[in-house]
Amino acid sequence: MTFTVQPALAEVREAADPVHAEDRPGAPWWRSAVIYQIYPRSWADSNGDGIGDLPGITARLSYLRDLGVDAVWLSPFYPSPQADAGYDVADYRDVDPLFGSLADADVLLRRAHELGIKVVVDLVPNHSSDEHAWFQAALAAGPGSPERARYIFRDGTGPHGELPPNNWNSVFGGRAWTRVTEADGSAGQWYLHLFDTKQPDFDWQHPEVRAEFESVLRFWLDRGVDGFRVDVAHGLIKQPGLPDWHDRTTMLGAHVEHDHSEHRPEPTHATPYWDQDGVHEVYRAWRTVLDSYGAPDRILCAEAWVEPQERAVRYVRSDEMHQAFNFDFLGTPWRAEALTDTIARSLRSSDSVGAPTTWVLSNHDVVRHATRLGMPSTESRPRGIGAGDAQPDRELGLRRARAATALMLALPGSAYLYQGEELGLPESTDMPDEFRQDPTFRRTGGAEIGRDGCRVPMPWVKGAPSLGFGPGPLAWLPQPEVYGAYAVDQQVGVPGSTLELYRSLLAVRHAHALGTGSLSLVEGLGEDVVALSNDGAGRDRVLVVTNLGKSVVELPEGAEVVVASSPLEAGAVPTDTTVWARW
Ligand code: GLC
Ligand code: CA
Repeated sequence: MTFTVQPALAEVREAADPVHAEDRPGAPWWRSAVIYQIYPRSWADSNGDGIGDLPGITARLSYLRDLGVDAVWLSPFYPSPQADAGYDVADYRDVDPLFGSLADADVLLRRAHELGIKVVVDLVPNHSSDEHAWFQAALAAGPGSPERARYIFRDGTGPHGELPPNNWNSVFGGRAWTRVTEADGSAGQWYLHLFDTKQPDFDWQHPEVRAEFESVLRFWLDRGVDGFRVDVAHGLIKQPGLPDWHDRTTMLGAHVEHDHSEHRPEPTHATPYWDQDGVHEVYRAWRTVLDSYGAPDRILCAEAWVEPQERAVRYVRSDEMHQAFNFDFLGTPWRAEALTDTIARSLRSSDSVGAPTTWVLSNHDVVRHATRLGMPSTESRPRGIGAGDAQPDRELGLRRARAATALMLALPGSAYLYQGEELGLPESTDMPDEFRQDPTFRRTGGAEIGRDGCRVPMPWVKGAPSLGFGPGPLAWLPQPEVYGAYAVDQQVGVPGSTLELYRSLLAVRHAHALGTGSLSLVEGLGEDVVALSNDGAGRDRVLVVTNLGKSVVELPEGAEVVVASSPLEAGAVPTDTTVWARW
């Protein structure tokens, strides 16, 4: 039922249970921070080689100050053969010449801090590149050597060791084991790689691996970084004995990609290489290192695709990480009841350990939400979209994406934005296959399209070569024709543009301290509506209404609209629209 007459204030009430209490006064920055993810190779190219770089980022940091974010997270820029776009690290203490130098990193840090923007870097502890000095040493040293013990080498099975040690598959497709050729030319041992062949997994039971990463943390903390986003945080520890696993290995998200109304799959930790209890001792040790740097806090944010939420929040217990991405929210279908349920459950689970919830709708691994929400169904998350697949309704997707973001940014906790979403950028869904670089595409023989579609270089200036991404025409992935219309220069200062909407949302969120507010569910506005109140001591209460139904929703009398994701219709909230109102 949807109201068509304006409900009297008395008819609109808050549900008996407030969902979440206001944060303590003076809460540390990360509990409510909005953090913008930069994918360095695709943000801004300073030298025209078609690949974004650190000087390019530094030159455009004022754009982010104007947007109003608190921090940036940079995906990896370390020396790397780029087999997985830099998530295959060959040296954890340097910058790849492709992206610049350590001196460029220092300049970036300094400039960001001058502008009041904190900098979080990406740490990839589950695996290194096969070109890392330790792995090269392990290959050279041979079976049984101390060098091999830092990775997961095993003898093969079968009469001649010609079969892999167990049946695990790689997240990117194909088996998770590769057999090496020993120094004498004979077929040798196998090593484990949950991802690409060029990403051997470390053995995190080895004390040298632990000591090395604590030293890497210090290296970057000493240079002034404000924190780390921790890649595949749920994968470091493998079940002893490496038992076979009956299920396929998926792009991390298998366990959060269920139908929200129906069965719950096995918990993630049933898989012998995900969410094993031993990971937590690693993060407790890291927390001690970070805490030793004092105030303001330096942070750890877990990329942990873990179900159920009761297990996921273990990563953010008070002596472990500060944040963990809430991928459950990202995977929730576009239905009011499902969204309300995810929001309430997320806040309650993170509250159970005293942590903030960390909301996210898009990143470099998933289909952009402006496209995802325009697909014929939002019940399950697409894993890449190619020219041969059903195509999104771009207008619908953008309208919903704006509503979804406005909902997200009204919620207490921290939130991550992915570069380009502030432009309403759609996924590239018809990229010719010859451009694809994601190892998933190759390793699955094209069965999985992969993640290139969300990694296309940013459009800054319509009509300029490479849309202003670099000084020349080169861009490492082709930019779709339509991207020109989304370029920054087309949106700055244009009322109603997605960029201006994001700026307003961030400004109001900040001014009203929504990130530290309390949250309660509001009833009486209809069934297809997410209705919440975000409140805090000494300021106006903010009513948040997202209409997912077919008819318009009237706001309670007296409610004064502050921001709307799409224009209102005679004061009422139209379909696929979020409003924030003082009430
Ligand atoms: C994480 C990264 C992803 C990468 C994978 C392996 O999921 O976000 O981009 O491919 O880890 O490092
Ligand atoms: Ca460049």
